[in-house]
Amino acid sequence: MGSGRPTFTFEEVVKHSSVNDCWIVIHGKVYDVTSFLTEHPGGEEIILGCTGRDATKEFEESDHSDEAKKQTEEFCIGEIHSASSVPIQPYLITTANLGLNPDERYGFAPPKVLRHLLLLFVALGVAFGSRIYIKAHQDPVTV
Ligand code: HEM
Repeated sequence: MGSGRPTFTFEEVVKHSSVNDCWIVIHGKVYDVTSFLTEHPGGEEIILGCTGRDATKEFEESDHSDEAKKQTEEFCIGEIHSASSVPIQPYLITTANLGLNPDERYGFAPPKVLRHLLLLFVALGVAFGSRIYIKAHQDPVTV
């Protein structure tokens, strides 16, 4: 590479894929954007969604201004050892590496027991419903 910047393997980069420690790869360069996540005008989720893979396409398609492109330099910590080793598809997406509680992903988190109760009520409803339906459609008993 010859730029004097540190190089990282993709395996190293992917270890930094959480909200508290977030590296991304754009055009073969590695950026530590942890401190920038909450400042990013496009939101932190969008950047977190680009960790553990090549973020180049999304970065370019987001139509960043020249100013934004210049700003990336602030966060550049090195280069990827071999750009071809970086997958375009997510390498690993887990709630753990996003640093999120699985129950908080959708903003509303009914406790597990409530969800199970709800399922039970639905199942009971279906059972009673079918019983009533079958009764109503039974042939009248002739005496
Ligand atoms: C070091 C990395 C990044 C920097 C410094 C950065 C910076 C910025 C800045 C300054 C803006 C405001 C608009 C502009 O001036 O262009 C912006 C908007 C945006 N960024 Fe980034 N960005 C980075 C990475 C990313 C990545 C990886 C994505 C992934 C999709 C992304 C998606 C967006 C989107 C969608 C907007 C538009 C928000 C809107 O206009 O509502 N950015 N970014």
